[in-house]
Amino acid sequence: MNKKDIESRRTFAIISHPDAGKTTMTEKLLYFGGAIRDAGTVKGKKTGKFATSDWMEIEKQRGISVTSSVMQFDYDGKRVNILDTPGHEDFSEDTYRTLMAVDAAVMMVDSAKGIEPQTIKLFQVCRMRGIPIFTFMNKMDRQGLEPLELMENLEEVLEIESYAMNWPIGMGKEFAGVIDRYNNRIERARAEENERFIALNEDGEPEVHDAFMDTSYYEQAMEDVMLLNEAGNEFDPERVAKGELTPVFFGSALANFGVQTFLETFLQFAPPPQPRELKSEEMKDPMDEDFSGFIFKIQANMDPRHRDRIAFVRIVSGQFERGMSVHVPRLNKNIKLAQTTQFLADDRETVDTALPGDIIGLYDTGNFQIGDTIIGGKGNYEFAPLPQFTPELFVKVSAKNVMKSKQFHKGIMQLVQEGAIQYYKTLYTEEVMLGAVGQLQFEVFEHRMRNEYNVEVQMQPIGSKVTRWIENEADVTDAMTGPRSMLVKDRYDNLVFLFENEFALRWFNDKYPDIRLYSLL
Ligand code: G4P
Repeated sequence: MNKKDIESRRTFAIISHPDAGKTTMTEKLLYFGGAIRDAGTVKGKKTGKFATSDWMEIEKQRGISVTSSVMQFDYDGKRVNILDTPGHEDFSEDTYRTLMAVDAAVMMVDSAKGIEPQTIKLFQVCRMRGIPIFTFMNKMDRQGLEPLELMENLEEVLEIESYAMNWPIGMGKEFAGVIDRYNNRIERARAEENERFIALNEDGEPEVHDAFMDTSYYEQAMEDVMLLNEAGNEFDPERVAKGELTPVFFGSALANFGVQTFLETFLQFAPPPQPRELKSEEMKDPMDEDFSGFIFKIQANMDPRHRDRIAFVRIVSGQFERGMSVHVPRLNKNIKLAQTTQFLADDRETVDTALPGDIIGLYDTGNFQIGDTIIGGKGNYEFAPLPQFTPELFVKVSAKNVMKSKQFHKGIMQLVQEGAIQYYKTLYTEEVMLGAVGQLQFEVFEHRMRNEYNVEVQMQPIGSKVTRWIENEADVTDAMTGPRSMLVKDRYDNLVFLFENEFALRWFNDKYPDIRLYSLL
């Protein structure tokens, strides 16, 4: 096992609100990495563009849609792993969990819209982990918000400090390029490759003159940069590494402007595979010889003829070799990993070896659960559990045929344990409820109950809720509950309030200040 090979790995996810340009960016990155020949092949596979019902059809035709879940390519001596974080109807707890398996995140922002809701949630998960976050202000080829306004919006909404690595000169039709503060040059838009960069001298003046420099937006950009130099944050790689400062890049994924410079700078500052915490609170180091990893996602096959599933493993330490035997502490069982796949942009390939930072997919017939540790060698330890996420959508669920109630409960319990869905029940009547962060989870649940457990379920939507657990449960009384503040139990019998909306939560907080509520991530 080569230390240098491990250090060359960069494993990250792109987070964004739908339509900010994540797919377009991914395509461009894969294109630079030589993983696809023409930047247009990921697009056609994008599931987010379809309605959920179509998605099921697509899944059926394709078997398991894993090809775009993890993409790997080499660039500049680095081995790059990009993990997909689905948006739209595909948004689910898996999306959050994927962020548990990366060492850095790229945040795409639509410069006409600023920070949008889905980005905020994904950002918070990254923030909680303290991983570095790199921001790409996209769509500069269109008229958007003023760059200073965008930076302010970023800092205020996300409460993170920022450093502009480059600064746009004009916008939309007038977009002439960026002042690349980090590399001390101007990068021109729509320029021939050999005329793309204009170096800046010690005074920050360009060494070559060009017509765009006589315009007012060039003057404005130069003024802004001076202001940033004097009053803005300093670039500090250590604070970037801790996730305290986000480097910001302006560009256009579609026009392929600024993407390569971004990629190169990102690869320089994004961290190599990081140590990971064990249950014992010790850290597992990527350079440790023994193989270890954890399962962060399980994708079930939607095709009833193929029951197999794929368990996604993030390798933490050691070297994976096909055919190796691993120990699963939860099961106290050894399993031989004969059939494994690694994921590329265009194709699924069988993998023979893999290193820390890499993601492998294991064909699974029902052995694994989300959060499982797998280890090679003789050790016996487990990684700290993955966090549970606060669900926002709820349904009441029952078996259509009461005669099937045994399979119904068995199916639910297995799917809950696997992490596909969250289990709740009403207080006195003990009706079963399910919680999820995305609608798709319910549909996958329904589908799998039918195909794997042979149970038709009926689901009654309860809608979206603001979910809060309670520190001092003993102080809660029936009088505090009502249609807008429903009280239920989670799978561990903890009491949980489901509020109608944020307004109902605030009202409750004002009325019962002594009840201490909290949310999970
Ligand atoms: P997503 O994965 O984050 O949902 O976004 P995606 O890349 O699919 O981009 C959403 C839309 O924004 C697409 O247009 C895409 O072409 C466009 N887009 C992405 N980057 C840029 C950019 O830098 N500048 C401009 N002007 N547009 C950009 P669409 O019309 O929804 O899709 P399509 O019809 O082009 O496929």
